Amino acid sequence: MHSERISLIHAFIHNLATTISSASLYSIDHPQVDRFCTLALDAIVAAIDRGGDVSILLIDDELVVDEAPLVNNMYIWRLVTALKVRGIGHLKITQGVTGQELRMLADGLRRRSDYREICSTDHVRFGTVEVRFADQDQGATGLEAFRKLPTFEEMPTFELVRLIEIYDEARRHGKLRIVGINEIVKGFIKTFKNQLDPLLAVSPIKSLDEYTFTHSTNVCILNLAQAMSLGIEGDLLNEIGIAAMLHDMGKLFIPEEVLTKPTNLDDKEWEMMRLHPVRGAMYLLNCSGVPASSAITAFEHHMRYDGTGYPTVYRGWEQHICSQITAISDVFDALRSNRSYRGSVEYDTIAAMMYDMAGAQLHPILVRNFLGVLKKANKI
Ligand SMILES: [Fe+2]
Ligand SMILES: [Fe+2]
Repeated sequence: MHSERISLIHAFIHNLATTISSASLYSIDHPQVDRFCTLALDAIVAAIDRGGDVSILLIDDELVVDEAPLVNNMYIWRLVTALKVRGIGHLKITQGVTGQELRMLADGLRRRSDYREICSTDHVRFGTVEVRFADQDQGATGLEAFRKLPTFEEMPTFELVRLIEIYDEARRHGKLRIVGINEIVKGFIKTFKNQLDPLLAVSPIKSLDEYTFTHSTNVCILNLAQAMSLGIEGDLLNEIGIAAMLHDMGKLFIPEEVLTKPTNLDDKEWEMMRLHPVRGAMYLLNCSGVPASSAITAFEHHMRYDGTGYPTVYRGWEQHICSQITAISDVFDALRSNRSYRGSVEYDTIAAMMYDMAGAQLHPILVRNFLGVLKKANKI
């Protein structure tokens, strides 16, 4: 009975996290949101039937239910992060909970805005608990400590944190731990293989900021979804993922003020920005163990299918498949993201824009395949 209840609570969190991700990727009214919300409701109602109201406590980085921590997985981490950034330490779901209440919960948790906007409802109640973080300021507890945490609520947190460390080391010491990148990519591939549809795993792709590492994991997920839908497997699949992770390495050498500038770049800043493919490729060529395709992708990802773009190359230059796939993921993520200089664009608009780019900026067959993969997910 007890283990059954815990499995149902896991199923609830899995579906709630996917509801949040789907609402972020599409909209709160999307059929996919409805579908996962219903699954979350079924699971939580069944769990309540088997042992009463469900109290989920956030203690350090774990969710605790019925006095025992839940075994961490990607979905639990997503919920942990979403709760943390809003200072929520306690979530109680009681008998009589409705789909509408869960939808409101998902809607509140998907937003990056202030935690105060999320309100308790009759059967979904929030609270704060005093939580201490072993590796943080020991004096900061509860809300204060939560507020210090980063806000990567839609990303696979484990991978993101590791990637931040790897990039930080590259930026500060010039050393790239390619083994770490490889592990992250393998982890994504394994996750996707366990999903019925890789696009379900792609759901958490909404970028919440402009940091290169967030964008890189998004591009990696999208690259893998594209490649897997094309039947690519093995080493090439791995390389396509790694190339995505490293495609913007050159941006590590651009001052952050330029990368995050809220207004248009001036000529000098733009010139600096346009150099990131060359700088990234040169950096990667000097790192041992990095596949050649990653350096090529870094160099080519802003080139266009019609031969224009940057850097300028000779006529007849042929873009590598990794670069072509990455260029598509890159454009999609750029349009999806809340860039500092532009609001995010809705899915249908993006699809229309990408169709327009097919054959000029992007490879036409690959664009068609990419939009097909997205469309398939859209119907789920
Ligand atoms: Fe780039
Ligand atoms: Fe990029």
